[in-house]
Amino acid sequence: MTYREVYESWRSDPEAFWMQAAEAIDWDRAPSKALFTKDNDLYEWFADAKVNTCWNAVDRHVKAGRGDQIAIIYDSPIAACKREISFRQLRDRVASLAGALRAKGIEKGDRVIIYMPMVPEAIEAMLACTRIGAVHSVVFGGFAANELAVRIDDAKPKAIIAASCGLEPGRVVHYKPLLDGAIDQSIYKPEFCVILQREQEKAELIEGRDFNWHDFQYGIEPVECVPVEGNHPAYILYTSGTTGQPKGVIRHTAGQLVALNWTMKNIYNVDPGEVFWAASDVGWVVGHSYICYAPLIHGNTTIVFEGKPVGTPDAGTFWRVISEHNVASFFTAPTAFRAVKREDPKGTLVKKYDLSCLKQVYLAGERADPDTIIWAQDQLGTPVIDHWWQTETGWAIAANPLGIEELPTKLGSPTVPMPGYDITVLDDAGHPVEHGTLGAIAIKLPLPPGTLPNLWNADERFQKSYLNTFPGYYETGDAGMIDEDGYVYIMARTDDVINVAGHRLSTGAMEEVLAGHPDVAECAVVGVTDQLKGQMPVGFVCLNSGADRAHDQVVSEVVKLVREKIGPVAAFKLAVVVDRLPKTRSGKILRGTMVSIADGTQWKLPATIDDPTILEEIKQALQSIGYAKG
Ligand code: COA
Ligand code: AMP
Repeated sequence: MTYREVYESWRSDPEAFWMQAAEAIDWDRAPSKALFTKDNDLYEWFADAKVNTCWNAVDRHVKAGRGDQIAIIYDSPIAACKREISFRQLRDRVASLAGALRAKGIEKGDRVIIYMPMVPEAIEAMLACTRIGAVHSVVFGGFAANELAVRIDDAKPKAIIAASCGLEPGRVVHYKPLLDGAIDQSIYKPEFCVILQREQEKAELIEGRDFNWHDFQYGIEPVECVPVEGNHPAYILYTSGTTGQPKGVIRHTAGQLVALNWTMKNIYNVDPGEVFWAASDVGWVVGHSYICYAPLIHGNTTIVFEGKPVGTPDAGTFWRVISEHNVASFFTAPTAFRAVKREDPKGTLVKKYDLSCLKQVYLAGERADPDTIIWAQDQLGTPVIDHWWQTETGWAIAANPLGIEELPTKLGSPTVPMPGYDITVLDDAGHPVEHGTLGAIAIKLPLPPGTLPNLWNADERFQKSYLNTFPGYYETGDAGMIDEDGYVYIMARTDDVINVAGHRLSTGAMEEVLAGHPDVAECAVVGVTDQLKGQMPVGFVCLNSGADRAHDQVVSEVVKLVREKIGPVAAFKLAVVVDRLPKTRSGKILRGTMVSIADGTQWKLPATIDDPTILEEIKQALQSIGYAKG
């Protein structure tokens, strides 16, 4: 079948399409139908089924005689360590950890926060939770204690599973003090913590609250998989919104199983047994879907890579891992390729390795710039596929579905909508626009299986963030267009979310931190264009009258504050003190104009601006930190 035929077969009968996809899953009780419609435009998939994620990701492959196949390859150039875990070993390790969690009182529906670096135990912890129906919430290791505390208070986890440390190039990230600090700060207190002691750092355990990963499992009976309802949450993953309070994206069990399994052949073009590598982190949605769940559910080998595209030890690391582990499909962020390209523009290191195993490469997380795609295609000689998705959707909204048919690529476009997604571009009044016209990108409800059914503890916020603006549609928060061939183009966010090195961050959250500095009267944070990271946050602060502090002192304090409160991942290093912020007469800060000035792109004087002379001051401030040139 062609892509067009597959897409039309979904469109003409979505129920039949997804019920057929569901046949690839091992059900304890098969679903009677696919879509369940609830009030308030809420939808659930396969809600009356009974099923277990861990069974489908691990045990069933052992039962099918594939127990000796490698499930996880751990490759850490930072820890100088490589390890392989077969599906049988993975089942035994996960059943033991799940048994220990159960013995300590974790039951179906209880939340467990996982705060771990890129080690296989992070995947084992996720699977152990889903094995017993506990709901995991993984928190990215680059977030500070305060961010962890916010998530503890929202998810109310009975337990936290963490490691003693993470490893960044040249620096050990001390997780335990961050964990202890977060538990001190949070109002809700977990009952216990499980700590994986890594050889690079042994953490101090708190008697009675903290348990060592290994001791905790000693003498424990392994447990079997607990079937859960199709609409039971498999996990909550917090993502940046417009404020400092992150949104808890819920993922239901059955929809995720069906959708992710479907993507592995149809989008990523791999068969069971092949090696699939997503060079991301378990703390992000890419890590949930494509390091942990999708490859394992589909019977692929996945790679847990603890390293960076450059500097661990060099810009050839990706190629070494691909060649050494026989990777068929590789997934990374454009920023990672830009980092490699900057160090090895001619691809000298690419030529050192036999990459004949590699069939295709996928990019997501931010806009893939044409230069980077062309460079990667030239170096690797494989298709390099840009595809577009979000934490909320859990899998690609638009892609080039190589397993169905390789469509001609158009640089700058993540190609076409995947089955399940009816993408429409709307104007401000909610009317569909002509082909080629920019607008807000919306998806006709219902969203397909595997996407978010709601936000954790935030029904109203879900409606307000995604459903209210365009009734009958899901608002993606992205702006762009669709051309006459149906190709989608993603141009910008319509909200205050920025994308720094493939990491989704909220400028609103950073503004809340800056506003907390005692000398700051007013502030704004905008994302300016950065050659390597795509965007970089820049802060503008106005000081309280009478605050006669040295400006560079205040700047270094606010930079430190963001690192302490949000974490190093915010990459907040640039700020300037200004007298005033440019605003409309109604008091709205003109962030878009500030970005255009910083980037040196053309901008129009906003008709509603309060005082245009202020823009010259902003330009000079930006020039003082190397922006707004020319
Ligand atoms: N734990 C603790 N700290 C972390 C961290 C983690 N898991 N991940 C990143 N950080 C820190 C970094 O050490 C850095 O700290 P520093 O300010 O002390 O140098 C800071 O957060 C910013 O990190 P980052 O923005 O990633 O910059 P970088 O210079 O370390 O690396 C890239 C740049 C492009 C190589 C890197 O960002 C990258 O590989 N990005 C790809 C992202 C990705 O895969 N995204 C998932 C979507 S597919
Ligand atoms: P995240 O939830 O972290 O996956 O970030 C999702 C956001 O990243 C999207 O809403 C887009 O703004 C951006 N994004 C992800 N993939 C792409 C892509 N292929 N092209 C353009 N933007 C993308």
